[in-house]
Amino acid sequence: MTSPLISQIIAAADSFENYFKFADGDYSHEEVLKWLAICEAGMVCPELAKVLRQMTKDQSVWENLSNDRIEQALDEVVPSFEMEVPLDKIRQVTGVFSRIVDCKSSFTRRHSMGLAEKAARMAEYYNKDEAETTRLIIAADLHDLGKLAVPNSILDVPRALTPEEFETVKNMCTIQELHLRRSEGLKISQNGRPTTMKS
Ligand SMILES: [Fe+2]
Repeated sequence: MTSPLISQIIAAADSFENYFKFADGDYSHEEVLKWLAICEAGMVCPELAKVLRQMTKDQSVWENLSNDRIEQALDEVVPSFEMEVPLDKIRQVTGVFSRIVDCKSSFTRRHSMGLAEKAARMAEYYNKDEAETTRLIIAADLHDLGKLAVPNSILDVPRALTPEEFETVKNMCTIQELHLRRSEGLKISQNGRPTTMKS
């Protein structure tokens, strides 16, 4: 059975990036063309292979794959998209992120989920309305998102951290802020943590 076209596009893009590491600039055009020939022999549908081959003839495609250009190049081709999402739906997504962050290290399992539960209890105690309660829970879900960028060799180390390791952990807030700041509607506090969200 043939996979749907969208699955093939995702699989081809994933394999393309994983195999050639375009961001590092560590690839040759000849190798890419060889890989493409293998794809054409059966890995992807003929139409997709044809489009990929056409793309490789365009010099700007190669230039756009570099780290310096990729963000801007994507902004130029990806249509702008806006969607109103209710807070409870956003919370469903942040709840998944919370579980992913908690699974990163056995030392902190249930940490974000536990904080979200405490935030909900606090909101109830202080008579917060439903929207404000959900905002607090979302903030708890995302408060340690930057942990995903800290290697487990540091998170799981059974001793005090070295100064270098400690710097890496401190850097987690900066990385977190960089990513969360891109999310329209999130307000970020000075320490890089999400505080509230516009409804
Ligand atoms: Fe935390």
